[in-house]
Amino acid sequence: MANSREIFGSRIGFILAAAGSAVGIGNLVGFPVNAAKNGGGAFLIIYALFVFLFCLPVMLAEIAVGRHSTKNPLGTYQSLAPTSRLWPIGGWLALITPYMIAVFYAVITMWVLGYLILSATGNLEQLATPGYFGEFINAKTAFVYLALLAGTVGLILSAGVQDGIERAAKVMMPMLFIILIGLVVFVLTRDNVMVGIKFYLIPDFSKITIQVINGAMSQAFFSLSLGMGILITYGSYMDKQDSIVASSKIVALADTGVAFIAGLMILPAIFSFNPNINPQELSESSISLIFSFLPQIFLSMQDSIGYFGASLVATTFFLLTFFAALTSLVSIIEVPVAALIDHKRSSRKQALITVGFTMILMSAICIVSFGMVEFFTRFAEYGGQSKSFFDVVIDIFYETILPLNGFLVCMLVSFRWKKANFDRELELGDPDYKGSLLERYVNVSLETIIPLMLLFVFINTVLFKFFGYRII
Ligand code: PHE
Repeated sequence: MANSREIFGSRIGFILAAAGSAVGIGNLVGFPVNAAKNGGGAFLIIYALFVFLFCLPVMLAEIAVGRHSTKNPLGTYQSLAPTSRLWPIGGWLALITPYMIAVFYAVITMWVLGYLILSATGNLEQLATPGYFGEFINAKTAFVYLALLAGTVGLILSAGVQDGIERAAKVMMPMLFIILIGLVVFVLTRDNVMVGIKFYLIPDFSKITIQVINGAMSQAFFSLSLGMGILITYGSYMDKQDSIVASSKIVALADTGVAFIAGLMILPAIFSFNPNINPQELSESSISLIFSFLPQIFLSMQDSIGYFGASLVATTFFLLTFFAALTSLVSIIEVPVAALIDHKRSSRKQALITVGFTMILMSAICIVSFGMVEFFTRFAEYGGQSKSFFDVVIDIFYETILPLNGFLVCMLVSFRWKKANFDRELELGDPDYKGSLLERYVNVSLETIIPLMLLFVFINTVLFKFFGYRII
């Protein structure tokens, strides 16, 4: 099987695909709002430190172990610990987690697609009506958008690694960047934008608390697509001649750069809409910002650029968000697809059909959990709250298991695969890495501070989410 495994056609192809995975909804909206609320420039500095000191080593570990094993995450854990009963549990987690994250991410992406279509067809006024989002998520059209999205993802993934994933990233990522810059330039021509820029950039260290630090770390970890098996899988398609270190640095820089630039679009837009807004009042959730607040901002632009102009800005923004979300969704769905191809010797098409149908079913369950079906709407009760099926998936897989997966990857690479082998893989295509300061830092941090912090976040989240007990 290993011989017939596809690989990315070029180094830039790998970089764009990995950056496509990393740049997602979290970058465009989650990051800017988090930064504005939590100390502006001070948050940016902490975030950047986490990206390079904390996330980059984990990224190197995931890509290197994947390239070495040339397998999906489960196969990777199994091949490094063939006789163990415990290690494969990590492999299963690294497979189930992306599967379940893909389920809820598909629902959000499908909403973005719906808003893109609606704003492009002249319905911005409706989108901006308070309470519309609640109606939208409960309408039967949700299933139509889900089907459209499934078709698009299926089309990309059925074409394979080079002709599907790589080609889609090569088209969408440059377009994403151009659209983003275009929107920033446009937003900066609005009134009152300086207030937003100040909130975003001027450091306020008094806002930095232990929770903010934890938030910055989680945001960085999620943003770089770590703990989801994606980089193990993409690493398994990477050419042995290419430098993992150099490519990873570019991906981390691109991801952070897009998040930073997105702030120059979102915050000035918010403050231009309402110069007196207090960022603390902005919603915690990216979801309500994207689907409730931003449409109101776009509509308000009709006073200066007319309804058509406002609709055009809204459509452009949703297109940007759709590209970002689609390349992330493709990357995460490739994980279970690769697993079926590796383990069941399925063809890519068969694997896609199996993963696609079960995933559509799970996403449909999420859709009906917003009120259509009572059983899934009040699916569970914990932490003193009633939770829908959609909430449960987010709480368990995104909030809780993700740091545990990160912890397990650090353990696998440092203590099972062993550092010497890890170093050797990173030296391929990068002879300068040997003996470098970075090498020493990566080795030490991956077996000490990084896994310890990830384990701590995991335990803290479990205690808080499910038992209502807060350590920090
Ligand atoms: N990095 C993505 C983001 O910021 C996270 C993600 C990747 C989510 C892949 C799902 C799939 O949104």
